[in-house]
Amino acid sequence: MFKLKLLTDPRWANIAEGNLEEILTDHAWCEQKATTNAITLITMLPEYPGIITELLNIAREELDHFQQVHEIIKKRGYEFGRERKDDYVGQLFKFIVQGSREDYIVDRLLFAAMIEARSCERFKVLTENIKDEELKTFYKELMISEANHYTAFIGFARKLGDPEKVNQRWEEWLTYESEIIKSYGKKESIHG
Ligand SMILES: [Fe+2]
Ligand SMILES: [Fe+2]
Repeated sequence: MFKLKLLTDPRWANIAEGNLEEILTDHAWCEQKATTNAITLITMLPEYPGIITELLNIAREELDHFQQVHEIIKKRGYEFGRERKDDYVGQLFKFIVQGSREDYIVDRLLFAAMIEARSCERFKVLTENIKDEELKTFYKELMISEANHYTAFIGFARKLGDPEKVNQRWEEWLTYESEIIKSYGKKESIHG
C-alpha cells in the first residue's frame, strides 16, 4: 500500500479499540492538524493557482473530517481531550530538507503525503479489524479520502520539482519512515 515498507501489526487495532475515547480524541486533533497544514502550504505556493484551489478543497475536507470525529465524540458522551502530541509526525518533520525554497516546499509536500499514506494505512487496519460497526464504516470512508490526499500531495510535488528527483526523494522518505515506524504500533493513537 503506497509502497509503505512496513505494514502495521493488526493487533494495534485491538489496542485502539480498547480505548475509543482516546483514539477518537487523538484522531480529531490529527484532522485539525491536517487542516492547518493544508492552509500553511497555501501560503507557500502563491504562484500555483491550480494547486491552491486543490489545497483549499483538501483543507475543507480535513475540517469536515475533524467535525465528523468531533460529532462522534459528542454523540457517544466521550470527553474531547486536549491536543495530543504526535511523536511520529515530529520525527517525520525532522527529515524535511532545509535547502533551496523549491526543495523545501517539495519536501513539505512529501511530508504531507507520507502522513496521508500512513494514516490511510492505519484507517485500513482499523476498518478491517475493529468490531464497532459505525467506526468500521467511518474509517473506510476516511481511508478513501486520505488516499486521494496522498495522491494529490505527490502530484503537487511532481509539479513543483523535477519528477525524477521527486520520485528518488520519495524513496528516501519511504525508507526513513520504515525505520521510525518500527517503534510505533503499540499505543491507542492514530500514529502511535
Ligand atoms: Fe482527514
Ligand atoms: Fe488527509
